[in-house]
Amino acid sequence: MEVEIRFPTTDKEWQEYYDLRYRILREPWNQPKGSERNDGDNTGMHFALFESEKIRAVARLDHSGVKESQVRFVAVEFNEQGRGYGRLIMEACENAARDRGDQKVILHAREGALEFYERIGYQIIEKTYLLFGQIQHFLMEKKLNNLPKS
Ligand SMILES: CC(C)(COP(=O)(O)OP(=O)(O)OC[C@H]1O[C@@H](n2cnc3c(N)ncnc32)[C@H](O)[C@@H]1OP(=O)(O)O)[C@@H](O)C(=O)NCCC(=O)NCCS
Repeated sequence: MEVEIRFPTTDKEWQEYYDLRYRILREPWNQPKGSERNDGDNTGMHFALFESEKIRAVARLDHSGVKESQVRFVAVEFNEQGRGYGRLIMEACENAARDRGDQKVILHAREGALEFYERIGYQIIEKTYLLFGQIQHFLMEKKLNNLPKS
């Protein structure tokens, strides 16, 4: 399995990128097209995991405070979940945060993804908001050590 993680470049890749976000994070809750984007897309760092020339996972890294990054819009293609892509794309985000000198990554996890984030080193800080009136979120964080990445 050869995977590559980079930001999308062509129009076709950007379309695929936002389409994956939409199908995984919005469509199952009957949210309209366009709800998968927000203003932070102009300033955030975008990560797409490519395998066999298709985008299988996406994530965005925002600057959220002093030496702090926030990961948002993490999604893995339906039939590709559980293959390690989520872990890989999160590592790419964390490495980028570490490279720019951040000491911490935060995120708001959906209840169903809490265990995933715990597996990769995040701790629950507090219960936060309810998305679409039904998806409970939890603020989580991971402190980055400043050792060179392996
Ligand atoms: C949650 C999600 C990002 C995880 O990515 P993934 O590629 O499926 O996860 P990985 O294969 O990298 O899993 C890494 C580890 O977490 C575990 N794990 C993954 N998803 C899990 C879940 N929902 N519950 C419990 N454990 C989970 C895996 O078993 C694996 O454990 P290991 O350390 O024993 O190997 C992905 O399943 C997804 O997109 N889900 C739907 C959308 C979503 O919830 N996004 C997050 C919004 S906050």
